Amino acid sequence: MVGHLLFYVNGKEILERNVEPEWNLLWYLRNKLRLTGSKLGCGEGGCGACTVLISRSPVCSVDGCHVVTVEGLGSTSKSNLHHTQIRLAQLFASQCGFCTPGMVMSLYGTVTSKDNSLPTMEDIEEAFDGNLCRCTGYRPILDAAKTFACDINKLDYQKSSSPRVSTTFDKCFSYAHQTTSPINRVPFPDKLRDYIPQSIHIKGTSFEWYRPISLNELIQLRHSYPGNQSKLIFGNTRVEFERKYNQMNCSCLISITHIRELQELKRTDDSLYIGAGVTFARLKSKLIQWKNEDKFCRALLDQMKHFASTQIRNVASIGGNIVSASPISDINPVLEAAGAILELNCADNEKVRQIQLCDFFLGNRHVSMADNEILIAIHIPLEKSSNKYFLRSYKQARRRDDSKGIVSAAFKVELEKLNLADNQWKIVSVCFSFGGMASKTISAKNTQQQLIGLSWTKQTINQAYELLIKEISLDELSPGGQYQYRRTLMQSFLFKFYSYVCNELRESVIDSVDFSYHRGISHGQQTIPERPQAQKYVGSSLSHQSAYLHTTGEAIYVDDMPSYINTLYAAPVLSTKANARIKHIDIDDASKVVGFVSFVNYTDVPNSNKLGNILPDEEVFVSSIALCVGAIIGLVVCESEHAAKLAANLVKIDYELLPLRIFSIEDAIEHQSYFGDEICLQRGDVEKVFLDAEHVLEDTLFIGGQEHFYMETQSCMVVPSNDDQEINIYVGTQNLTTTQELIALVLGRDVNRITCHVKRVGGAFGGKETRSLPLCAAAAVAAVKLGRPVRLNLERRVDMSITGHRHPFKIKYKIAFNNEGRFLGLDMQMWSNAGCTLDASQYVMELSMLHMGNTYKFPNIRIRGRVCKTHLPSNTAFRGFGGPQAMLACETIIEHIAAYLKCDPFTIRCLNLFKEGDVTHYGQILELWNVPRILDELTKSSDFIQRQFNVREFNRKNMYRKRGISMIPVKFGIGFTAQFLNQAGALVHVYKDGSVILTHGGIEMGQGLHTKMIAIAAEILACDIDRIRISETATDKSHNLSPTAGSTSSDLNGMAVRHACEQIRQRLDTLIIDNNVHISWEDLIKQAYFARVDLCARGFYITPNMFDADFTKNQANYNYFTQGAVVTEVELDVLTGDWHLLRVDILMDVGTSLNPHIDIGQIEGGFMQGIGLYTMEELIWGDEKLNKWIPPGELFTCGVNTYKIPSFSDVPIDFRVSLLSDSLNPRAIYSSKGIGEPPVLLAASAFFALKQACKAYREQQGLSDYFTLHSPATVERLRMVCVDDFTQRACADEHEIFQPTGSY
Ligand SMILES: Cc1cc2nc3c(=O)[nH]c(=O)nc-3n(C[C@H](O)[C@H](O)[C@H](O)COP(=O)(O)OP(=O)(O)OC[C@H]3O[C@@H](n4cnc5c(N)ncnc54)[C@H](O)[C@@H]3O)c2cc1C
Ligand code: FES
Repeated sequence: MVGHLLFYVNGKEILERNVEPEWNLLWYLRNKLRLTGSKLGCGEGGCGACTVLISRSPVCSVDGCHVVTVEGLGSTSKSNLHHTQIRLAQLFASQCGFCTPGMVMSLYGTVTSKDNSLPTMEDIEEAFDGNLCRCTGYRPILDAAKTFACDINKLDYQKSSSPRVSTTFDKCFSYAHQTTSPINRVPFPDKLRDYIPQSIHIKGTSFEWYRPISLNELIQLRHSYPGNQSKLIFGNTRVEFERKYNQMNCSCLISITHIRELQELKRTDDSLYIGAGVTFARLKSKLIQWKNEDKFCRALLDQMKHFASTQIRNVASIGGNIVSASPISDINPVLEAAGAILELNCADNEKVRQIQLCDFFLGNRHVSMADNEILIAIHIPLEKSSNKYFLRSYKQARRRDDSKGIVSAAFKVELEKLNLADNQWKIVSVCFSFGGMASKTISAKNTQQQLIGLSWTKQTINQAYELLIKEISLDELSPGGQYQYRRTLMQSFLFKFYSYVCNELRESVIDSVDFSYHRGISHGQQTIPERPQAQKYVGSSLSHQSAYLHTTGEAIYVDDMPSYINTLYAAPVLSTKANARIKHIDIDDASKVVGFVSFVNYTDVPNSNKLGNILPDEEVFVSSIALCVGAIIGLVVCESEHAAKLAANLVKIDYELLPLRIFSIEDAIEHQSYFGDEICLQRGDVEKVFLDAEHVLEDTLFIGGQEHFYMETQSCMVVPSNDDQEINIYVGTQNLTTTQELIALVLGRDVNRITCHVKRVGGAFGGKETRSLPLCAAAAVAAVKLGRPVRLNLERRVDMSITGHRHPFKIKYKIAFNNEGRFLGLDMQMWSNAGCTLDASQYVMELSMLHMGNTYKFPNIRIRGRVCKTHLPSNTAFRGFGGPQAMLACETIIEHIAAYLKCDPFTIRCLNLFKEGDVTHYGQILELWNVPRILDELTKSSDFIQRQFNVREFNRKNMYRKRGISMIPVKFGIGFTAQFLNQAGALVHVYKDGSVILTHGGIEMGQGLHTKMIAIAAEILACDIDRIRISETATDKSHNLSPTAGSTSSDLNGMAVRHACEQIRQRLDTLIIDNNVHISWEDLIKQAYFARVDLCARGFYITPNMFDADFTKNQANYNYFTQGAVVTEVELDVLTGDWHLLRVDILMDVGTSLNPHIDIGQIEGGFMQGIGLYTMEELIWGDEKLNKWIPPGELFTCGVNTYKIPSFSDVPIDFRVSLLSDSLNPRAIYSSKGIGEPPVLLAASAFFALKQACKAYREQQGLSDYFTLHSPATVERLRMVCVDDFTQRACADEHEIFQPTGSY
């Protein structure tokens, strides 16, 4: 047995003798080898940011492996970029860049996976199922990846007719043709070719690691470390989770990856033998070969289509899945239905026993296996009977990619022909097995029993539904919630199975039931107007300034920065109760952790423990009462990050619960718990109009919140110095000046002693506008107390639980309109859930009220808003800032009127559209109003009218699949409604060699701001663009900065950059005389220097004609409006709620774009984020009345496995984005327009298209009344509004109201 590891990283040999078994590979790469290209995104294998080739998590598991990281492929410094890195960079596939190294590695893995051939486009569409990106909307990543596809010629390619159209196909082809030479592979080290695995024993400080290489050796080890003294581990995908969250205590891990006896995988005539150590990836590739030979192989393969992710399937074993006994395992129902038998070996007596899988699961994660037993293999009997036999599997998850089933099911039936003449079949045997319907995988034994002997008819299946509902019961206390939906799914799946069998028996063909949608290859098209000829850089699609740094992993984020020699690491101690007095804090156990340095709390704050962006109502550390779960009670500071996390978990807090806890908007209304007074906007006479109106409708809509899910979690490093009391702070924030000022306040120092730096941020979306402040302040207190640098980096779950979300809203409306559908008056009340402190909630509410009218004229209007105070973490800014909630309500009103008048909603939209010169409800006159033109052009280019007709035809012909199509315009005001924020500065230094350093007040967080600023500077200075650099944004170079927010940063900073550059250019121009007009930039600068010309300038800009919004006078104004429209078509499986975005056409007015492809990136990325908001992302917390299975105030959806953002297979199959031509905007730099936020709102069209699809099904069911659909339109909500026998049976009695799990 050896006590060391031998492996290679990027071709370099590593013989590691001092390894700790608790180190995981990512930590080892980042901290020991300083390879920071691989990122920590979620820590749960659910986002792909850490993807490396060979990535078994514990570092001990890589013995004998060659680990290839993004750094191994190529680097900018060595100028040896890999094809994958070049294409992702050049095709705009990165924005913030945090996910990009993971994307590069997934792509590299795919293009090098086959020895002699390239992947197909379908392979590529599947290759990224474990990678998430929050910025790009995925389309450009897929574009870049498809340039490697071997079957790219199969695309229905028509070269773009006009030079203005840039299509995915064009790009794919032009790059694909560059792939003449084979794809570079990182060579496999020769030494490893002859590597013979040996047994390994590593003795770490806290536990031991064994890697036996034979079953005998494993049995001996199990004998030596009986019971829970040791734990078997294969892929570690479950064990790691248990170690991290369930505080698993085990002193010895035994890795079973090299036991040959567990690896067997064979098929004989009558059975399938799957070794417990077979990975899902290996199993899948075999099943593909065998799929036509047996129904089991087919059913298991179907279930694996959307099973976990490529990364997880590569390492996770089938044995690990079975022994983990997850109640929501997707494969166990298939194994159970197929009659799987498990083979177990006991280490004590080496006896082998067999057990039926159905008898193996005893309860939640509890199995019939003795401590010392080892699962050896799974036997699947293959059916030999002469009867007809059918087996099929089903799954419905929150998202298609990498998401465990809400319900998964497998059905098997054996049928015997009763009567040759009339094609009757008798049920001989049957198995209905489910995951997600109980605390374990279960089969419906009673139902099965009762069905045997009956004939296979509709009546029998109807009886089966009833029996199933009785036998498998779930209720409102069932963990996971969604009990009515789950009951519905159980029946829907059975109905699908029944229909499938009928179709196979050719008995009857049941319309579209089992024919699940086959996703075609996604593709896109972008139309870009020609740019002004005179401009060299501005208006051209320059790649993102950091694109190559993103794809090589060389882009540095806060957590990638090297630590100072005496750095300490902090981990927060968080309240686990809401509205509770802290009675006692016990740090005894924590302080015993090796490396513990200090516990920092409110008593350590030098000056002010209170902070807040607007109102100082938030504490840095809880002094007495923890308002919410997640409130920061203190920081544990240790010598290592691991020790800090460990110790923070050991701090014990005694609480005294205070009487009232308010979580939801409804609770807050009931208890009148608000921040401030009601605010109101009013125009016209609303009371009067309702007295005379021809029609009045009213309803209430709930809109859920949204997690920002920036890929880089919140992090900061605070470096104190005794030299003049200076403090340097490196932080991922959108708001440097406020960070600087609040830390100065907390520490009691002058602002000039605090310097804050941001190089780049790995996504922010509003979530780092204010919520980064308390964390930074806490770290600063610790750093000052201890006189050493302190780093604080939040884990994904902590970040999601404590840093706030988009505000949930309740919106009540009453609308008056005439027979035609023209609006007469609107009376609306809005409530938002602000959480426990005010943060930006007042502004969010105000902007929501301003955005309310969208593009429509309400002649009389009254909107009242209240900000609810609850015991949840403070909600905060999020892209759109109140706009998306208001927009959904406004468009819902239109849909409501249309349903009432039985007309097309688009007619109502057009009828009420603003005209040029109209006045908004806050008194702004509309100028340069392009929405009517946009709608006109989009109607034609999207073929909207014909496609509406086609949708109706489709719905007429299909019973259980319905389509919907919706066209929606958008208007989004750009400019801060607080006047003082509309200012910006820039600083330009030109050095003697002609190189330029540009600094401005905006933060680069993926939106391409620096790229645009560099283009403006190069255009005005008239130098080569590559002479200009932006290093960072910092408060010692730019002062008094407005936050980078509100889609204003290009406008404000662009003008300031122009101002600075113009000053320098004017000075330079004075040196140009007739005989040196062709002087080079470099020579000109030299000449200027010797002529003693100042080559530095500061620019400053204030947006003219802006004033403070004044709600008491119903007045506000924006600088201008970004406008656009979208047509979205969807297809819905009404039986499950699953759906696809068939086609999306967006036409956006961005003025004269500063950088068309960067703007298109914002449009596509924003749209997909909006798709998440309106259809998929759901926040669920315990609130004492609903979701009682979650502790009150705790967020259930706080990790990648419960909270799902859109992923690759959610992109529109056909995604067309056009920029409006001939649109001028004299109010912004180079006639451009801000674009960051408006596209989010466009995604509401998917919500309404889905609502239409539901409406079509409801009408088919005889339900023609208007129905309310709350947001998000999750698969659960969509299924449950498609009311039918299944949904009705799923509610315990006919009066039971459907209660979805989402919280507001
Ligand atoms: C991101 C992610 C996505 C996922 N998605 C899905 C999904 O869509 N559907 C789904 O059903 N599941 C899903 N899973 C669960 C996943 O399939 C299991 O975690 C995995 O199969 C466990 O295998 P492993 O080899 O990693 O087990 P490990 O984590 O190594 O071990 C798991 C448990 O099994 C025990 N064990 C392992 N092998 C043996 C053996 N031979 N004998 C005795 N005990 C043994 C271990 O001691 C441990 O208790 C997902 C997991 C993750 C992390
Ligand atoms: S570029 Fe993918 S997360 Fe930002």
